[in-house]
Amino acid sequence: MNGHMARLSSRVIAITGASAGIGAATARAAAADGATVVLSARRGDRLDALAADIVRSGGHALAVPGDVTRREDMDALVTRAVDAFGRLDAMICNAGIGYHGALDETSDDVMRRLVEVNLMGTLYAARAALVQMRRQGAGHLIAVSSIAGRRGVGGSSVYGATKAAQIACFEALRADLAGTGIHASIVLPVSTVTEFHDAIARDFGHAVEGAGPRQSADVVARRIVDCLVHPRPEVYPYRPAWLLSAMSVLAPSVADRVVQRFTRHRKPHHATTGRSDT
Ligand SMILES: NC(=O)c1ccc[n+]([C@@H]2O[C@H](COP(=O)([O-])OP(=O)(O)OC[C@H]3O[C@@H](n4cnc5c(N)ncnc54)[C@H](OP(=O)(O)O)[C@@H]3O)[C@@H](O)[C@H]2O)c1
Repeated sequence: MNGHMARLSSRVIAITGASAGIGAATARAAAADGATVVLSARRGDRLDALAADIVRSGGHALAVPGDVTRREDMDALVTRAVDAFGRLDAMICNAGIGYHGALDETSDDVMRRLVEVNLMGTLYAARAALVQMRRQGAGHLIAVSSIAGRRGVGGSSVYGATKAAQIACFEALRADLAGTGIHASIVLPVSTVTEFHDAIARDFGHAVEGAGPRQSADVVARRIVDCLVHPRPEVYPYRPAWLLSAMSVLAPSVADRVVQRFTRHRKPHHATTGRSDT
């Protein structure tokens, strides 16, 4: 903790996909602001290392390895947090995977995998947390979606569908939860420097390249922490991306032309060792 007033002290915050990228950066930022962070992802060794690092810096962290596609793992994540710290103030549904390809070059298996991780993973984590938050009469659900869920871009018909589904779910949650003391927020990053593209190369064997704005995971993490402090419906970590959302509603054919410029292309797979991004 860095001497400034901790804005999240005594808050207990669970984060899925905390072993890398935006999730890990958010864990560090929230812990530095006083939160107790409960870290979830499949790679337990990475979670242990991150938790140890946070504790060394004077923070509080607990690693609870799990897979978001397993409903019982998400239930256990909430149970472990509540057993250890007595409550759960926020759940950040961040775990997610990417894929780049046209619909007619996407296999059934890939489609199901994206839906399982990005959509079912979000639903399992949010539902498990919501049960506890209703008991408390307070809480905050956050989903890390993508600008590609608000405005489809080339090659993202399946990925974008899962990201749009997160948005629709959380909009409905806000209606359900109005007046309950439980907030629901959506984060809409643009392309972010993380291990996201390395994971696509590892799991699906292709690399992606393309133009467009790019931000750091730390910028996204800071905006997520700000949203925890002051809950709001939507967060655009790269603020101009909001214009694309608005344009998409007001003038979809203009938005079509704009996103043409940001279409990504597949590259043949080659070694990605040592790179954190493509
Ligand atoms: N990077 C971008 O350009 C970008 C842009 C917009 C939105 N986003 C969104 O941001 C979120 C985080 O992505 P990132 O960029 O930080 O990618 P990342 O560096 O690849 O991190 C993804 C995280 O998700 C976890 N994960 C993947 N599958 C999982 C599963 N089945 N169960 C539990 N955890 C799982 C990974 O941990 P394990 O492998 O250890 O399980 C890892 O911690 C995603 O929802 C993504 O859609 C990313």
